Amino acid sequence: MPRRMTAAIIDGKALAAKVRAGLGAAVAELRAKHGRPPGIAVVRVGEDPASKVYVTSKEKTAQELGFASWQHHLPETTTQADVLALVRRLNADDAVDGILVQLPLPKHLDANVVLESIDPAKDVDGFHAVNAGHLFQGRPSLVACTPAGVLRMLDEIGCRLEGARCVVIGRSNIVGRPMAMLLLNRSATVVICHSRSDVEAEVRRADVVVAAVGVAKLVKGSWLKPGAVVIDVGINRDEAGKLCGDVDFEAAKEVASWITPVPGGVGPMTIAMLMSNTVAAATRRLQLSSTRTS
Ligand code: GUN
Repeated sequence: MPRRMTAAIIDGKALAAKVRAGLGAAVAELRAKHGRPPGIAVVRVGEDPASKVYVTSKEKTAQELGFASWQHHLPETTTQADVLALVRRLNADDAVDGILVQLPLPKHLDANVVLESIDPAKDVDGFHAVNAGHLFQGRPSLVACTPAGVLRMLDEIGCRLEGARCVVIGRSNIVGRPMAMLLLNRSATVVICHSRSDVEAEVRRADVVVAAVGVAKLVKGSWLKPGAVVIDVGINRDEAGKLCGDVDFEAAKEVASWITPVPGGVGPMTIAMLMSNTVAAATRRLQLSSTRTS
């Protein structure tokens, strides 16, 4: 990749729009062939304010793309049995291709049990152990949306991953772990950093840095190898209360070749990839049901 003086900015909003536009033909084909659009059900429990914003945005995007969508908002005090009963109902509903249970759930609910109750074929978040396991084994699967969006960004800028040294900061089930597997499946050399790692030493050697740790401006510009590609998944507030990522953007952009901003970087990609997963799930389910009936 050519060295630039200042990093080029990866425009997540524009790329997300391109991904959404690319889904139009598949949605039209599903309608024409099977008489219905893809359907997504979004479940929110309780009153987490960020979750409300995310869920509203997911539903709005689904509607703009012509999907059928259902939002289920359950009260904070909902029991685990009631959440599981709702998921069972959605699993059994043929019009629902994708089920998303927004995290975090209230503390009295066991998120793992809830996520594992979702039919893996409808698990458009890619969090079910079956889908996570397929990703781990390098087999096709529904992949968690944020890491899938990051990979799409790396592809868009023509980042060569084969043999590249990629450092993923953070080991969450939502981002860090699936991200590392996606990069490994592209034959990158992958390092996963966490709270016990020497993050600076690892970042200094990295061709690609994906920061998903939730610590404001953890990654300093001076740590980066000149020309590194920097993807910032973090959404934090700095000392002044301003939105910022896990990377010190102003300093990093002087060293990196490509960098994502916060906001306007990875964030918009997550929802676009959720829509893409929903189309994939619908296509697969409808193909299976038409081969069963033909
Ligand atoms: N909470 C934060 N990110 C996500 C996500 O990608 N999916 C769900 N379901 N909950 C989240």
